[in-house]
Amino acid sequence: MKITNRCKGVSPSVTLAISAKAKLLKSQGLDVISFGAGEPDFNTPKFICDAAKEALDLGITKYTPASGTMELKKAIVNTLAKKGLEYKPENIVVSNGAKHSLHNAIASIVEEGDEVLLPIPYWVSYSEMIKISGGTPVYVPCDENFVINLDEMEKLITDKTTALILNNPSNPTGVVLSKDIIKRIAEICVKNDINVISDEIYDQLIYIDDEIPSIATMDGMKERTIVINGVSKTYSMTGWRIGYLAAPENVAKAIASMQSHTTSGPNSIAQYASCAALNGSLDEAIMMKKAFIERRDAAVAAIEKIDGLTCIVPDGAFYIMIKVSNFYGKSINGKKINNSLDFSSLLLEESLVALVPGDDFGTPEYVRISYACSMENILEGIKRIAEFTAKCN
Ligand SMILES: Cc1ncc(COP(=O)(O)O)c(C=O)c1O
Repeated sequence: MKITNRCKGVSPSVTLAISAKAKLLKSQGLDVISFGAGEPDFNTPKFICDAAKEALDLGITKYTPASGTMELKKAIVNTLAKKGLEYKPENIVVSNGAKHSLHNAIASIVEEGDEVLLPIPYWVSYSEMIKISGGTPVYVPCDENFVINLDEMEKLITDKTTALILNNPSNPTGVVLSKDIIKRIAEICVKNDINVISDEIYDQLIYIDDEIPSIATMDGMKERTIVINGVSKTYSMTGWRIGYLAAPENVAKAIASMQSHTTSGPNSIAQYASCAALNGSLDEAIMMKKAFIERRDAAVAAIEKIDGLTCIVPDGAFYIMIKVSNFYGKSINGKKINNSLDFSSLLLEESLVALVPGDDFGTPEYVRISYACSMENILEGIKRIAEFTAKCN
């Protein structure tokens, strides 16, 4: 069967090779420590699970409006208002996870041949989503602290540039862009008539006290921004698959129409539970955030003690990028490490630690760990990394 060029252009993830290998080793009963997962290890708070049970008891088991229930849209409007973003339910589309919202957003504003600015390091799905929609990702370099280089970004703007994808805080780096940088990005976008897709899925996982606004709050930006968010990370609801976007009304309407012909409305029970999540207390989310700060501090302290490895202390999300390129050219037990994929796959083979090679994020000198796992695993996993690197020569 012939496959479309659009589909052929999508790269397989190198991460998958590592995950498959980690699963195989685990299934053989080996004690693999996994730093790969991009999901909180906590249970979904009980009051949210109770709401899902209530939805079943109430018989909320039928199709909902394609763009989401009015109750959930109102809860989203109130949530966004707390960030200084004023929207109406007509601006909101609820989808099957933030990933789906991102795909919808890109598909709605990127034409065949359009260029989309994508700051490096980028979350792997963005580049592939851009390609699926017929666009071309244009990679924007960053500085040594993983902050977008705005001079370089301006140089990369052409008359085909339609959009910029911004992810703050960032997966994979955990870097949080400051208000000042966000303001400067906004000015460039207004000046050059560029739209922004602003992925704010980690906005409740910021570990500094500074005020970090959404780019949509900046002058002239609301009408050119699609804000993406969801319940997956804040409430540990990754499996419930509820994400949402807020966009100018004409865009939201077009996306709702597209969704009505593809997936229809998301799961009715998960929407009901997400409504309870957004209207309910943030206490458990705050508890998770405190745990992440402790884990980050412990992980960074342990990494910094390892000869040859460096990392940047992340201010948000639950990821750390570790620079491993000092080990390229070295060997372990006669096996050569040439790149981050080799480092990751040999670390898994030799020391049973799974992490994500940086190639998928546009940063081949790095690997990414997620500290969304127990403190015990973090310390044991990093101890194994230390032993592995000590054996490289
Ligand atoms: C930056 C970023 N955006 C979006 C998503 C997708 O979130 P969801 O699980 O709600 O689809 C993820 C998940 O890993 C992510 O890291």
